[in-house]
Amino acid sequence: MSNSTEVFTLKNKNNVEVSFMANGGRIVSIKVPDKKGEIADVVIGYDTPEEALKGDSYFGALCGRYANRIVGGKFTIDGVEYQLDTNNGNNHLHGGFEGFNVREWKVEPVVIDKYAQAYKLLLVSPDGDQKYPGELTVEVVYGLTDDNEFVIDYKAETTKPTVINLTSHPYFNLKGAGNGTVEDHELQINASKYTPIDEALGTVSGEIAEVKDTLFDFTSAKKIGDAVNGDWEQLEYGGGGLDHNFVIDDYDGTVKLAATLFEPASGRKLEVYTDQPGVQVYTGNHFDGSEKGKHGCPIEKWGGVALETQIFPDSPNHDHFPDAVLRPGETYKHLCVYKFD
Ligand code: BGC
Repeated sequence: MSNSTEVFTLKNKNNVEVSFMANGGRIVSIKVPDKKGEIADVVIGYDTPEEALKGDSYFGALCGRYANRIVGGKFTIDGVEYQLDTNNGNNHLHGGFEGFNVREWKVEPVVIDKYAQAYKLLLVSPDGDQKYPGELTVEVVYGLTDDNEFVIDYKAETTKPTVINLTSHPYFNLKGAGNGTVEDHELQINASKYTPIDEALGTVSGEIAEVKDTLFDFTSAKKIGDAVNGDWEQLEYGGGGLDHNFVIDDYDGTVKLAATLFEPASGRKLEVYTDQPGVQVYTGNHFDGSEKGKHGCPIEKWGGVALETQIFPDSPNHDHFPDAVLRPGETYKHLCVYKFD
């Protein structure tokens, strides 16, 4: 665990600004203009790094080693069974009690041609960290282009076979943090399938289902409110909204548009591109307004939406899900681009 409150900021020529903490690599603000040029901070969270340290540690954070859930915290590699901590009911969530979201990342500025500004974040997770096998060396580049693309470029290597699934956890509200819920945001997801949640498991069962004729059909843009206000057991199992992994269509490991979020009043648009096979869409169902966030406004249910590029939940336990195993000599690679318009 780290208590550092150091904040770094990336800026481009359009006055777009992305700020993050070394602690958890947490993205604490993303300032982008609307259709009239007015700037707003489009991620929910806290006004100061001190408050962020006391608050929800997943806001804007780098999650790992295994973002999302592993059922029972168990997996097997090469016949050896591993038991991780269960920090979310019976499941392991976002890397355990002390995941990468609360670690002090080593941050250094880097010059990379395509970025107006960039930083490299480094973390060495020791062998046995949170009971995962192998020493894992993780390198993440946060880069901002002059085309308003905030790029998260992940790489990792291990000394023993292990499982890995890194993601980033900002909750977007394109009206600006503190301006109500995302029910009026239009969401389009390039996914004709999703992985339903099993009530008893508290996460996916391994089933892959069609979104067609369900509230999760976002293949054409649709208001988030039209889905989360519906009546369906999958919304209940998600804790009162979307908390689901969507299977990106035509996945082939190249970078593809996964989702588009649009807020009509401000005209702000966010496109999410990735080379990953899935995107977890989480509408902040557990927020209940009791906690104060930016500008002293309550952090309310559906106050933001996280679009987390990744492999599928519980992949280590399903052979037909993407491969979560990383072996010595291999490099884990993951690219996520949040493009603002
Ligand atoms: C998960 C939620 C979880 C949240 C914690 C999300 O990625 O899908 O189930 O409650 O992270 O912040």
